[in-house]
Amino acid sequence: SKKIILDCDPGHDDAIAMLLAHGSPEIDLLAVTTVGGNQTLAKVTRNALAVATVAGMVDVPIAAGCDRPLVRAQEVAPDVHGESGMDGPELPEPTVSLDPRHAVDLIIDIVMREEPGTVTLVPVGPLTNIAMAARKEPRIVERVKEVVLMGGGYHVGNWSPVAEFNILVDPEAAHIVFSAGWELTMVGLDLTHQALATDEVAARIQALDTPVSDFVLGLFDFFRAAYKDAQGFDFPPVHDPCAVAYCIDPSVMTTRRAPLTVELTGTHTLGMTVADFRAPAPADCPTQVAVDLDFEKFWGMVVDAIDAVSTS
Ligand code: BDR
Ligand code: CA
Repeated sequence: SKKIILDCDPGHDDAIAMLLAHGSPEIDLLAVTTVGGNQTLAKVTRNALAVATVAGMVDVPIAAGCDRPLVRAQEVAPDVHGESGMDGPELPEPTVSLDPRHAVDLIIDIVMREEPGTVTLVPVGPLTNIAMAARKEPRIVERVKEVVLMGGGYHVGNWSPVAEFNILVDPEAAHIVFSAGWELTMVGLDLTHQALATDEVAARIQALDTPVSDFVLGLFDFFRAAYKDAQGFDFPPVHDPCAVAYCIDPSVMTTRRAPLTVELTGTHTLGMTVADFRAPAPADCPTQVAVDLDFEKFWGMVVDAIDAVSTS
């Protein structure tokens, strides 16, 4: 099975990413780490513990990380995720406890402890923790198998016309992560805007009829209304589990190799992920972007995982 560390800021779609990772036998979830993003660190960490409680995720360490971006003032997303960071479903009082270690140290410890080339980092929030880990212990860059992140977009933005939230709120961290030299797959908005939670998808989840499926429907309801109001979507794009789905089975999406850089100085383009498609990527190009999603395969994975979590 594939060993991953999920670094997240729950977050409606982050919660689905946690459930997909936990409910998939192909994944060995080594840790869940949190980072300030969709809401403050305290809120997203509480949400992560609540999701773990709903999912019966008792044997996975959950650790809190950085509470703000490297350079810039924190920006949160209440319009998309509510004041709690995960408005909608009723959140249980967490019965799962927080690991006392700092997320950055936990990430480093796990990568240095496991066999080289076996741990995949899956960041689905701002890249602050991952950048800090790479700076504190540079040996992790050679040691991880790959980084599969949700963020950015080569043709689409959402927090600005050309930049995506996870990248734009901490562009310096993103720059560190994108230019580190490790194998990196950017699962950006071009891909995740295909992962819509349609009525048909919601009906399949509803048919499971368990506390976990009810919880997911509560997430979808709020997320759908938020995406309609804020961005004019009929159905919400469920971004973050797409990165986990790629780890489970890369054939769930097509990818294209391209050099990637993060814009740090543009007046109108701060945080843009610039992909160079002008020529075939050089043979040693470590970065690639996700292009087309296999919708059926993706939602099949998510539905199966919710089912598995419900009955475990
Ligand atoms: C990303 O930003 C957050 O709102 C979501 O959780 C996702 O990680 C989408 O731009
Ligand atoms: Ca997220």
